[in-house]
Amino acid sequence: MTALSELRLRNFRSYTEACLTGLASSFVVLTGDNGAGKTNILEAISLLSPGKGMRSADLDDLQNREMRVPWGISANVSTSFGSVLVATAKDSLKNKRTVHIQGELAKSQSLLLEYFSCLWLTPQMDRLFIDASGARRRFLDRMVYSFDGGHAGRITRFENALSQRSKLLKDGNASPVWLTSLENQMAESGVAVAAARNDFVDRLQQVCNRRPSKDFPRAILSLNGFIEQELQHHSALETEEKYKNFLARNREEDAVTGGAAAGIHRSDFCVTYADKNMPAQDCSTGEQKALLIGIILSQADLINAERGTPPLLLLDEVAAHLDPNRRKALYGLLSEIGGQVWMTGTEAEIFSGLSGKNTSFLTVNSGQFLLQKIA
Ligand SMILES: Nc1ncnc2c1ncn2[C@@H]1O[C@H](COP(=O)(O)OP(=O)(O)O)[C@@H](O)[C@H]1O
Ligand SMILES: [Mg+2]
Repeated sequence: MTALSELRLRNFRSYTEACLTGLASSFVVLTGDNGAGKTNILEAISLLSPGKGMRSADLDDLQNREMRVPWGISANVSTSFGSVLVATAKDSLKNKRTVHIQGELAKSQSLLLEYFSCLWLTPQMDRLFIDASGARRRFLDRMVYSFDGGHAGRITRFENALSQRSKLLKDGNASPVWLTSLENQMAESGVAVAAARNDFVDRLQQVCNRRPSKDFPRAILSLNGFIEQELQHHSALETEEKYKNFLARNREEDAVTGGAAAGIHRSDFCVTYADKNMPAQDCSTGEQKALLIGIILSQADLINAERGTPPLLLLDEVAAHLDPNRRKALYGLLSEIGGQVWMTGTEAEIFSGLSGKNTSFLTVNSGQFLLQKIA
């Protein structure tokens, strides 16, 4: 099981202080008016996983505007290792976010992944399939990263080498030896990243294929990128060589356009509605949402299967947009996954289907930190 039993916030977004205790382990429902502070709570939980949280916010945006003491979040999480106290806060001196696990400063945020993972679905993600490819790439890489803590570091290595190469090319008269060394680094880290993406997409596809597709359609997943596609037919070493040669040949062109004409920074994560053979971007808004829910549920299944413990799920404003039958189906599927699910909405009524299911219903009142248990 994976569930927060207690969550405390300090000077985080609209909250100066808040404490939610005695939380049910299956569902926690937050209802309240627009602007009441529901998403802020989900965002706080999302920061108990590595990265910038579900709004990709900068550290300073998270700070309560009225308060000077840095924001902090802490939670008691029931995990398969027992109850774990995790905390994260802004370290003003270093201008970074620190993580403590059982009171010990964690060397890296990715250590959190050893205890639990956290997935989310937000209204902003409604545009995922029509946005530029960067948003889908980040979505995919976050999923890969939740299984493979080294993934983010390899992407950073690739990006650092890419940006140094771009700078050298732009300045002109760079030493070819130096360029070659950066290109080698791009090829090596790029192939590792692409291989991890390919492997993850294959595993996720298998889970998607096994899920019932009645309410949340089956997705066909693919990766469209130079290195990812090369790796489908060639070894990692051959692909590295090919990419290095490609980069060397393209120096002049890349000097003009900036960046590099191909690489893992340009790949796209493509999704097709299987039964209709329709690319996701051409599906209706409702179909896109249903596809996305299906992918998140599949990822939760994959985490469950591979790590033996379900993720925390944060579903922001998801239930209200489903018809009653789909909503009921969703509640059933979420119960089967078995991790704690946080859901928000403005109307309490849409969550009535959860009343027999070990649920905390909380109303969030605008203002500082008033949260009431109503059922
Ligand atoms: N850094 C901040 N300091 C103080 N208030 C903030 C900060 N960031 C956001 N807010 C406020 O938090 C309120 C609640 O936001 P949110 O949780 O998104 O509401 P909702 O209940 O609709 O999901 C908004 O009115 C917003 O102005
Ligand atoms: Mg909201």
